Amino acid sequence: MTDEIKKGLLGIVVDETTISQVMPEINSLTYRGYAVQDLCEMCSFEEVAYLILNGNLPNGIQLNKFKKEEKENRNITTNMREIIKHIPKKAHPMDVSRTIVSVMGLEDKDTSDNSPKANMRKIMKIFAKTPTAIAAFFRIRKGKKIIKPKKELSFSENFFYMCFGKIPQKEIVKAFDVSLILYAEHSFNVSTFTARTITSSLSDIYSAITGAIASLKGPLHGGANEEVMNMMKKIKTPNKAKSWLIDNLNKKQVVMGFGHRVYKSGDSRVPTMKKYFLKVSKLKKDKNLYKISEIIEKEMIEKKNIHPNLDFPTGPTYHLMGFDTDFFTPIFVIARITGWSAHIIEQYASNKLIRPLSKYKGSDHRKVVLLNQR
Ligand SMILES: CC(C)(COP(=O)(O)OP(=O)(O)OC[C@H]1O[C@@H](n2cnc3c(N)ncnc32)[C@H](O)[C@@H]1OP(=O)(O)O)[C@@H](O)C(=O)NCCC(=O)NCCS
Repeated sequence: MTDEIKKGLLGIVVDETTISQVMPEINSLTYRGYAVQDLCEMCSFEEVAYLILNGNLPNGIQLNKFKKEEKENRNITTNMREIIKHIPKKAHPMDVSRTIVSVMGLEDKDTSDNSPKANMRKIMKIFAKTPTAIAAFFRIRKGKKIIKPKKELSFSENFFYMCFGKIPQKEIVKAFDVSLILYAEHSFNVSTFTARTITSSLSDIYSAITGAIASLKGPLHGGANEEVMNMMKKIKTPNKAKSWLIDNLNKKQVVMGFGHRVYKSGDSRVPTMKKYFLKVSKLKKDKNLYKISEIIEKEMIEKKNIHPNLDFPTGPTYHLMGFDTDFFTPIFVIARITGWSAHIIEQYASNKLIRPLSKYKGSDHRKVVLLNQR
């Protein structure tokens, strides 16, 4: 045992995993051995979700069965709809996301059954129902009617439909699908580690995912995609981007969407997402945000040698797609449910209670003095 403190568990390997491999030295990320860039170009989000959860890419029959199950699980209960209707309209959608998964746990008679079979059943429910509940809040807080899911639509098409009542061009749906694939999994990041820590006490999957959502909310993790958009809204036009950035750096402020604990010379997911960000900008005939992002990226690399992470291109892409800024991280939730769930399954299968140590630096041993003598 060593006394050395590794704050933030920096550089500590805590367990093994077969789900994904982050390789910063060659700027690569694989899910179950497949390069994420190839998955983005050659597969749908549903295929990648199956891969992450089951270990292999599905054949046609397996994929159809998986998609059928997902579609059959999309509906939320009347009780859940009523709860969503009564949530304060100003609540942050990440707090709503956390609450709805928790409510799903209240509604499920299998919540405490941690057998692999029951867990797969619960994962499918969380995976299929969370987008429906998030879309319901998206509409309710604008005073609009909830739109029920449609079975004939794909996972991504259905999310657009439930939010906006229509489905955009197929290139936009593809860009959204790509963003979900890129957000789906990323090894032992803070929210995944939270999910694994909760699981390690043999708590249930709804609790683990509720905790993971709470962890993802923070601006140093998933919440960064919202902060990127807030930054772009402040910058407004490309001609103000450079001076804004310099001013920000002079004030020693963190630039959201830049830097990464593991990738130090670029995030392997960024080139793919940037390509789709540009595609969406062209389709929407609005390259303002893309131009701003090009300037910020160039200056950050030149001045600080800090590269953008995935949240940098996804934030403005979601904005162009029409989503409200505070719904960007809930979209991340929709995707990451797959990765979290795979890690929870892996943790149950080879569990060891996660319990690190700390070095005490508080007061020396002292005697308790009775209240009337203090
Ligand atoms: C992600 C993040 C928390 C990684 O942090 P980390 O591995 O602990 O690295 P550090 O915060 O110690 O950063 C190392 C140095 O780079 C600087 N740095 C890192 N990210 C920066 C950023 N986005 N903007 C400005 N400076 C940054 C730090 O200030 C620090 O400088 P110093 O050595 O002079 O103090 C950090 O890069 C960050 O806060 N990024 C912005 C939030 C974000 O986009 N999060 C999403 C991550 S996917």
